[in-house]
Amino acid sequence: MITEFIGKFHPLLVHLPIGFFLLAFVLKVISFWKNKESIEAILPIMLILSFLASAFSSLTGFLLSQSGEYDIEMVDRHQWSGIVFTVLILAVYFFRNNAKLGLAAWIVSTLLLMFVGHLGGSLTHGEDFLSIQQKAEKAPITDIQNAKVYADLVQPILEEKCYGCHSSKKQKGNLRLDSPEYILAGGKEGKSVVPHNTQQSLISKRIFMPEGEEEHMPPKGKPQLTEAEVKVLDWWIKEGASFDKLVKNFNQTPEIKLALLTFQGSGNAAEVSTASNIPEKEVEKGSEESIALLKNGGILALPVATNSNYLLINLRGIEPSEKDLGALKALKKQIVWLNASKIKNADALATILQDLNEIRVLHLNKTNFSDNGMAALKNLEHLQMLNLANTNITEKGLENIKGLNELRKVYLYQSKVQFSRLKMTDFPKIKLDTGGYTVPTLVSDTSLVKPPM
Ligand code: HEC
Repeated sequence: MITEFIGKFHPLLVHLPIGFFLLAFVLKVISFWKNKESIEAILPIMLILSFLASAFSSLTGFLLSQSGEYDIEMVDRHQWSGIVFTVLILAVYFFRNNAKLGLAAWIVSTLLLMFVGHLGGSLTHGEDFLSIQQKAEKAPITDIQNAKVYADLVQPILEEKCYGCHSSKKQKGNLRLDSPEYILAGGKEGKSVVPHNTQQSLISKRIFMPEGEEEHMPPKGKPQLTEAEVKVLDWWIKEGASFDKLVKNFNQTPEIKLALLTFQGSGNAAEVSTASNIPEKEVEKGSEESIALLKNGGILALPVATNSNYLLINLRGIEPSEKDLGALKALKKQIVWLNASKIKNADALATILQDLNEIRVLHLNKTNFSDNGMAALKNLEHLQMLNLANTNITEKGLENIKGLNELRKVYLYQSKVQFSRLKMTDFPKIKLDTGGYTVPTLVSDTSLVKPPM
């Protein structure tokens, strides 16, 4: 709609009245010392221009506010102070020859202008945009077992996915989730959290409902929880909804362990939902002998979920021996997740990679993996996530993965890929990630994760 389009110009137009008015103000101040007459002659013109620009800004601002994208209360304050400012310009104009009233009008309107501007800035840039203390980036969780369940996992999830409607800003269903007291107090329908009782906890109930249902949270069309996030919220309630315990103080099923791993290495909620990477079809149990062999060598081999035969392998930087490679190959039907980051001879691993064609997630970061090995990935038709950060891969090597239809994300930070030479259109479905801090170093750190015995 044309009105919406005009509204979009508001953030640009508002600079006109500010400019005109402040210039008039400066001239007025100067006029106390010199050029009094010539300044008095142009001041009325400047004030009229300020008034017109301000009135027009108010109009466009009103159109913009109709989009409904902004916080109603804040819009309200900004809108009314803007309108009052517009009227005050007229007061300055009419009282310009009255020493006392004129001065008062100048001072009040100048102060009000700053206030209006600040409110407007807060609307576009967020409420604390002027505060010097920047919101601290959350440090990534490096050791999930020593992370705080509420502060490091639960609260960030709620903040990202629920605060929009359940916090100081808005209280849909009379529910706030932005502090322990509010969480325990619950909402209109009852308790959002009943420790140890997920059946009675409205949060568990709502997040597990199918997305199509009206009561499902977050509501349809809003950013949804990942599977790992759903599991962690539910687990937190089941384990007593403590606000200070550490992960290691909670009981952990293998399934939860896996969900937790997705939080490790990322500053906020999980990027990759591992649970969605488990194939739907069943698979027979992998060779016990091969699993034992890997474990003996210090390699982590875990079922991806309770009652699943699919496996997660983490080499933990350990160089696989010939026998290990044989064992991995023997488990090719079961392995869906392989973390080989930091191993020394990744090209040797490549010789068996082509056989592991059930693999969904593959970490080869911080290795010498090169274009020679890339051909081995050509047939990994189920591969969804590939981490090639800090490797010797170039744009030539990437040719090999063009045809992988399920691949969605490739991390290439500090690889040898020259992005200027890369035809992005060759990878329409794949998100190539080049930014350093988003590269997950999932499970790459040793000693933190102990296989369930
Ligand atoms: C886009 C807005 C929005 C977001 C985001 C949102 N909710 Fe809600 N929520 C609502 C609305 C509206 C209601 C009230 C209507 C209803 O009961 O379904 C509600 C109600 C609830 C209730 C029931 C409260 C009561 O006692 O009546 C719970 C529990 C809840 N939400 C949890 C969550 C959780 C957990 C998240 C984040 C994962 C979340 N919501 C995210 C809009 C939202």
